[in-house]
Amino acid sequence: MPAFKRLGSAAIKSTVAYVRSLQGKNTPATLPGDPKRGEAIFFGSAECANCHMASGRGGFIGPDLSIYGQMHSADAIKTAITTPAAREHVQRVVTAITANGEQYEGIIRNEDNFSLQLQSSDGAFHFLSKAELKSFERSQTPLMPSDYGTKLSTGQLNDIASFLLKVVQSSTPPSVHHPDEE
Ligand code: HEC
Repeated sequence: MPAFKRLGSAAIKSTVAYVRSLQGKNTPATLPGDPKRGEAIFFGSAECANCHMASGRGGFIGPDLSIYGQMHSADAIKTAITTPAAREHVQRVVTAITANGEQYEGIIRNEDNFSLQLQSSDGAFHFLSKAELKSFERSQTPLMPSDYGTKLSTGQLNDIASFLLKVVQSSTPPSVHHPDEE
């Protein structure tokens, strides 16, 4: 990246301010529910944390939700929880059987034309060569339960969305000091 000294310090300052405004951290979202209650549901009764990480705690088989709230509104979060088709990252469990009969089940973490890397639910990584696989099957059903729309009340969904929006505010990295800013 070239040095932009010739922009002059006023232009640099306003560019920095603009980029910061894109991060949106000065306008915390209004929360539709209670983040504390949402946290309790997330790590407790709804068992979200079996699969998801939020603020450094939880499972790893589903996407890490620690900064999910940064790019998603409360409504978008609730829709992703209740509607499988609304989720951006689809992670299907795959079952692979090698030529010598070993069976592996997990999520694909890496794949190219010749190999794939599976992570099983115990956290272990398995590096498999495609040429040595006897069979390989992708599960058709999403791993995340699809009945949260009926299992959770609107109030509980609002609480969970609030928790995921709140978690971001506490995990935003500290702002970078720029010597030209003073
Ligand atoms: C059994 C594991 C599992 C459980 C339990 C689970 N999820 Fe998920 N979740 C996933 C997986 C895997 C995905 C990736 C999308 C897919 O494959 O459907 C996902 C996707 C999501 C997404 C969208 C993320 C994205 O990047 O698209 C959100 C938001 C989410 N889950 C929230 C929750 C909440 C909140 C709960 C608890 C109420 C929960 N999940 C429970 C496994 C789980």
